[in-house]
Amino acid sequence: MEKDYEKRNIEILDELKKDLDGVKTSNDLVLVKAKYLGKEGIVTLLSKKMKDIEPEKRGSIGKIINDIRTNVTTLIEEKDNYIKEELLKKKLNDEKIDITLPSKKLRRGSMHPFNRITEEIEDLFVSMGYDVLSGPELETDEYCFQRLNIPLGHPVRDTQDSFYVDVDHLLRTQTSSVQARCMEANVEKSPIRMICPGKTYRRDDDATHSHQFGQFEGLVIDKDVTLANLKGTLEVMAKTLLGEKTKVRFRPSFFPFTEPSVEVDVSCFKCGGKGCSLCKNTGWIELLGAGMVHPNVLRSNGYDPEKYKGFAFGTGIDRLAMMKYNIPDIRLMYTNDIRFLKQFDRKELK
Ligand code: DAH
Repeated sequence: MEKDYEKRNIEILDELKKDLDGVKTSNDLVLVKAKYLGKEGIVTLLSKKMKDIEPEKRGSIGKIINDIRTNVTTLIEEKDNYIKEELLKKKLNDEKIDITLPSKKLRRGSMHPFNRITEEIEDLFVSMGYDVLSGPELETDEYCFQRLNIPLGHPVRDTQDSFYVDVDHLLRTQTSSVQARCMEANVEKSPIRMICPGKTYRRDDDATHSHQFGQFEGLVIDKDVTLANLKGTLEVMAKTLLGEKTKVRFRPSFFPFTEPSVEVDVSCFKCGGKGCSLCKNTGWIELLGAGMVHPNVLRSNGYDPEKYKGFAFGTGIDRLAMMKYNIPDIRLMYTNDIRFLKQFDRKELK
């Protein structure tokens, strides 16, 4: 009887070895495992038959069946390990990295001309002791106009066609609003020297005007501030941004928040003043508006115009970038065409 079982043991292991030879994947192995160890498997059925064996033989035959089970399990586990190892080897081989191959070229982003010029302006004014401030883009009529000497019904409002959100709130049309906020927050505590670059909005849409554009404003308030200080400051700015040879001239102008007001021109940095298409043959380019802070503005923001004076200036950032980098259409500034933006890689411009 025991002999029969031992013979069976050898037969089963021979058959299993043959089956395992045909196994290529884990899935194949699952089927083989089921054939021997599953519910209806060869080894399982053998064990089930134990109950039919006479009690005195059960011990020795039970041991043989256990040996069969151990041998079968071991062979299957060995095959399982082998398959896993092969799989890992293949994976390592497939994923091998040849570090001697040339790398893919990474495309680096470049600085947007708008940010580029904003940074230049900020660096310059910070070097002269100015703070860089910002203010809300959704502004009240009071800070955008009234505190800047532009009462309700003032005709200058028509030139700044505004996006009103409700009766009192609008998207700011000018960064001049930050002048009022800064003075109010400071009220005669210390001199003010600030610039505030930021977004502004008007109902415009053509090649040189966009519904959203950037402006920056400068404001200096102190006890003895003169028009000559303003001119000196703007000369430094023009030379730094547009070149050492740039000249600056003042023309009388009008802005409600300054008195006197000036329009500031710079000599054409493209033709050097001889006359070209950029300066429309005049030799000069309009750069910004400026002036001495109007006494009404000082007063409505808490300053005594008898004690304090100030100058202010403001202009469009997109316009400056367009002039400096020869950009013909303001819409190029925000349509995100990569071919346009790529030209402003640090390496390619001075
Ligand atoms: N806020 C004016 C504009 O949007 C620009 C400006 C002119 C600002 C003269 C000033 C200034 O501070 O003094 O057109």
